[in-house]
Amino acid sequence: VIFESSHKASILVAQEIANLIREKSALNKLCLLGLATGSSPVKVYEELVRMHKEEGLSFANVVSFNLDEYLPMDRNNIQSYFYFMHEHLFNHVDILPENINIPDGKVSAEDLYQYCIDYEMKIKTLGGLDFQLLGIGRTGHIGFNEPGSHFNSGTRSITLDHITRIDAAPAFLGIDNVPRKAITMGIGTVMSAKRIVLLGWGISKAKILKKTIEGKITSQVPATYLQEHNNTTFVLDSDASSEL
Ligand code: GLP
Repeated sequence: VIFESSHKASILVAQEIANLIREKSALNKLCLLGLATGSSPVKVYEELVRMHKEEGLSFANVVSFNLDEYLPMDRNNIQSYFYFMHEHLFNHVDILPENINIPDGKVSAEDLYQYCIDYEMKIKTLGGLDFQLLGIGRTGHIGFNEPGSHFNSGTRSITLDHITRIDAAPAFLGIDNVPRKAITMGIGTVMSAKRIVLLGWGISKAKILKKTIEGKITSQVPATYLQEHNNTTFVLDSDASSEL
């Protein structure tokens, strides 16, 4: 779906999420949201916060699972995705702290493998993700599933692509400060969500979105796997869709 501006599009995506939260709440059920960081979802979170404050949208039945986190990364660091999510959403709504799941960037090397299995299991045990919000990186990554990621991959640690580290460099005041690794939900984890919305804004995403949407499915552009998902919408602004 192509919108003239990302603003209008973000409001509609936020409305879809809000409706889902309300529907689940009316049934007394938890709503499992897979959430993304980066600049793309910021306006969606802004609108959700507005709906909480002005329309009484409650997050009491929401369990969130974030896609990824740098490794190593202290949660108090302003570059952490933990910090980002609290700043943009969690500090401003009534989600229960125990219902917030963000991969722990401080997990030790020996605990990492089991930690990732547990993260994956927790999503499955609670019934799977009802909704997964995604951005896209210039490498075609979703979460931090860089080129080479397997279709069936689960939550795991991954080595970041050089292009991803270049894109993150301004936030870290130089590429040397950008972590080389991350924990990310896998392609399999994302693909098991009942509904997926990928946000793409701006001209810098136009080339990778053309490959993602019109190119052949390949591990070299992990976002192309989404072509095989039966309930995914790519929500783009006109600049991001300019190569389609
Ligand atoms: C990071 C995140 C991704 C995100 C991507 C794009 O790499 N791990 O989940 O989609 O950035 O970021 P932005 O939305 O700022 O373009």
